[in-house]
Amino acid sequence: MMSSEEILQEVAVEVSTCSRCKLCKGRTKAVPGEGSPTAKIMFIGEGPGYHEDKQARPFVGPAGQFLDELLASIKLKRSDVFITNVVKCRPPSNRDPERDEMVACNDYLDRQIAAIRPQVIVTLGRFSMSKFFGSERISAIHGRARRKDGYLCIAMYHPAAGLHDPSKKDVIRQDFKKIPLIIAEVERRAALRAAEQPAQTIVPTSPQQREQEPPQQLSLF
Ligand code: URA
Ligand code: SF4
Repeated sequence: MMSSEEILQEVAVEVSTCSRCKLCKGRTKAVPGEGSPTAKIMFIGEGPGYHEDKQARPFVGPAGQFLDELLASIKLKRSDVFITNVVKCRPPSNRDPERDEMVACNDYLDRQIAAIRPQVIVTLGRFSMSKFFGSERISAIHGRARRKDGYLCIAMYHPAAGLHDPSKKDVIRQDFKKIPLIIAEVERRAALRAAEQPAQTIVPTSPQQREQEPPQQLSLF
């Protein structure tokens, strides 16, 4: 069986030469995403911009600088988390990713999620939000944790939205501060579940198994 690291590497290699959608035509370099194969938190943005396309790394431009600040505010380094996007190649002139492009690229994202099995998925902006939250409005659900597809997901505004709007910046900062609380709550519940079971029956639950658990109300949020 392949390790998480090997699966992520395999995805990165495929992405680097992918031509499954029209975004391959305009890219300089594809941006598979990067970070820890054992990350507890995964961040999913929209798509590479100018700087990301040049460097083949996610969130290295101005929005990335703000993301770094946000991570530091909860004592996380980039190497602690995994950061990727819904489309791995830069849309021309930074236009929105289109439906067919997100569909074409979705398999890479699903494989990354399945390899990492993060405790928490943070969607940055409305395109990654729509994968987990459907057509809900970001203004209504940002900063709230919800179980979806067996993962705990939190929708947040895109860091770029904060760059020109100081009030959004504050909202994003406040939402970020909830991440450690949510992780602590997830771990508390996991410890409770583990304590309820004889040691030999403790096996890692798959996302599918977690999906079958009764829906839980997260009292914290
Ligand atoms: N914006 C994104 O959504 N992703 C990046 O990687 C950079 C900017
Ligand atoms: Fe392939 Fe995704 Fe790039 Fe499209 S955006 S060419 S599907 S890697």
